[in-house]
Amino acid sequence: MKREALSQGDSHGWGADGHAVISVSAGRRVPAGGENDGRDRMLTAGWAAWGLPLAQAGGSFWLPDPASTTAHYTDYLFYAIFYISTFFFGLIVVLMTAFLILYRRRDSRIKGEKTASHNTALELFWTFVPLCIVIYIFATGFVGYMEMRTSPPDAYEIRVTGQKWKWFFTYPTGYVDESLHVPVDRPVRLVMTSRDVIHSLFIPAFRLKMDLVPGRYTSTWFHAVRPGEYPLLCAEYCGDNHSAMLSTVVVHEPGRFEKWLEEASNFMKNLSPVEAGRILYQRQGCAQCHSLDGTRKVGPSFKNVYGETVQFADGTSGIADENYLRESILVPDAKIVAGYPPQMPPYQGLLDEDKIAALIAFIKSLSDEHAEEAASPAKPDVAASPPLSP
Ligand code: CUA
Repeated sequence: MKREALSQGDSHGWGADGHAVISVSAGRRVPAGGENDGRDRMLTAGWAAWGLPLAQAGGSFWLPDPASTTAHYTDYLFYAIFYISTFFFGLIVVLMTAFLILYRRRDSRIKGEKTASHNTALELFWTFVPLCIVIYIFATGFVGYMEMRTSPPDAYEIRVTGQKWKWFFTYPTGYVDESLHVPVDRPVRLVMTSRDVIHSLFIPAFRLKMDLVPGRYTSTWFHAVRPGEYPLLCAEYCGDNHSAMLSTVVVHEPGRFEKWLEEASNFMKNLSPVEAGRILYQRQGCAQCHSLDGTRKVGPSFKNVYGETVQFADGTSGIADENYLRESILVPDAKIVAGYPPQMPPYQGLLDEDKIAALIAFIKSLSDEHAEEAASPAKPDVAASPPLSP
């Protein structure tokens, strides 16, 4: 089944731009209506059930197009085992059917003959042939495994941090992004760790999968051969939002990666704090849980929060000033807003003071009363622009 066939359902696993999209329709309640509604609902659930694993596999029952230098090792062995299994499945079913017909009981009065109990030649044959097959599978797998485990010495190094339920990629400039950006035609080494539980970095297009373990570093490497964007996901069940722990690998055209990294690393210098805060709000994952228009999500909305009195779960209250916002970003569990679950991950060590200041300026700009103060003197028109809806 190809991508086009999948897109017919309204909850298909691919976005208009061809990237994997996780469908939410299956979990959403569809209002009960006539017969058509019921059928539509079943269709929707069906497409979602098929669309999800297919989207992750690249929109097809077959492996996605290989995009790394080591992908062919996996593909070769996978298809070798697949076709060997198919051959033996067919052989066994055909022989079984033939024997059923050939040796069926034709006359109920005839007693069955005694069957042969031993045949040395046959037993040697059916021991030796499978032995050769498994040795071949092991040898081929070992060659690929060694290649995939040994990163070239000149590899470009990117640090990866997994945290419920986000990915952080730290580049050599110290810049942190939620997507993995890499140059094409250059080996990249990932040095990875987790801040909480075991996660597993999985990039199907590169045939790459490696666990991230808290308290230690693991590493893996790849060499991307085709520019483009590829899905990256977590392949180790790590809690209730495991399935939403998604990101993207962006493989840049030759020469473009360095340019992207320089621009991305310097966005704090080139933008006003409010604008930089708006970018951080998107990139650091705040947008997943905090709305900008007052809508209730997992966490409180950022709209009109600055300067207001906040009620905490322990019965106390406080003013949402700079210090409160800073603490809530770095150590979210210190003060839990009443009525919200203590679900936010701590950002201690992930955001420097400049970025925290930018985020606070951005939150300030969303307050009707304090928007003026948030405006940077260099760009007074920034805060006046209406806040983006999430
Ligand atoms: Cu992280 Cu599953």
